[in-house]
Amino acid sequence: MRQIKIGILGLGVVGSGTVRILQENAEAISRRVGAELVVKKIAVRNLAKDRDVAVDPALLTDNPFEVIDDPEIEILAELVGGVDPCHGFLLRAIQSGKNIVTANKELMAKSGHDLLDAAQLAQKDFFLEGSVAGGIPIIAAMKESLAGNNIKEVMGIVNGTTNYILTRMTEEGADFAPTLADAQRLGYAEADPTSDVDGHDAAYKLAILSSLAFNSTVNEEKVPRQGIRHIQARDIAVARDLGYKIKLIASAQCHPDGSMQARVHPALLPNKHPLASVNDVFNAVLVRGDAVGDVMFYGRGAGSLPTGSAVVGDLIACARNIVSNATGRVGCTCYLSRPMLPSEQ
Ligand code: HSE
Repeated sequence: MRQIKIGILGLGVVGSGTVRILQENAEAISRRVGAELVVKKIAVRNLAKDRDVAVDPALLTDNPFEVIDDPEIEILAELVGGVDPCHGFLLRAIQSGKNIVTANKELMAKSGHDLLDAAQLAQKDFFLEGSVAGGIPIIAAMKESLAGNNIKEVMGIVNGTTNYILTRMTEEGADFAPTLADAQRLGYAEADPTSDVDGHDAAYKLAILSSLAFNSTVNEEKVPRQGIRHIQARDIAVARDLGYKIKLIASAQCHPDGSMQARVHPALLPNKHPLASVNDVFNAVLVRGDAVGDVMFYGRGAGSLPTGSAVVGDLIACARNIVSNATGRVGCTCYLSRPMLPSEQ
């Protein structure tokens, strides 16, 4: 059977989940692709670190260019996070002929346009399902199943860490700080959890989702955001007594005149609202289309295996394109349309 060689940058929470799924489900994946997906090299920061997954030490390198520049590697999975140095790594990988899979929301929200443009020019695939809402296949749905709709609104809970914290505070009266520490221990939070707690992570994901939804390039810097740091146990208790839950909501609307709004903020949701019962690390995204009406996607929004599931799905899609000689179908061409004007945000 044909082999398709994969290189991976990063063996942290998402990288470990990705490798575990590729190992444990290898037979089914090969059957579905019609080729064997072989991890050839993995770049890590610290070769001596204990790992959550058993990996042949010969696959590991602390030099990312050994992965990026390896001519046998056809697909590069970037699972490091952050803009630098990943932006340069991915541009170089595209220029050296690699197809790309990434779970990097900050990079895609800030520089997705550049990277997708470069991939289109090089006729390479670029997939980013793992960048939004962990294991929920929301990007594939927007790109494919919902592509016949004019989407009017996207609204969701897209940060697992803050939803976990708000759920524990609501159900157990837990304090903010130890609950955040739990989320970090469980691998949900970002390396710098201020990105979760202050709403930046949700704003990155909303910029990606609304770019896809509205065929534009939503500038994440223009998305107003407020996090959950200031929410206290008594706010949650008052909300509960009135029949409401407090949730961190990311929402974007496209109005009939073509103007758009996007923002991230804590919101009071009536208990019967479909997003009010989304708890713990779960995420949910409600999409309002002109043809389909309301569709809601629900699942684990963070963590090793759920996000690994999204990454492996992208690796499979990319590998199928290689097998069928269909590379060059950039994952999200909508990013390549006109940039959103500041007055529209
Ligand atoms: N820190 C992120 C979250 C990880 O809590 O949702 C998944 O993107």
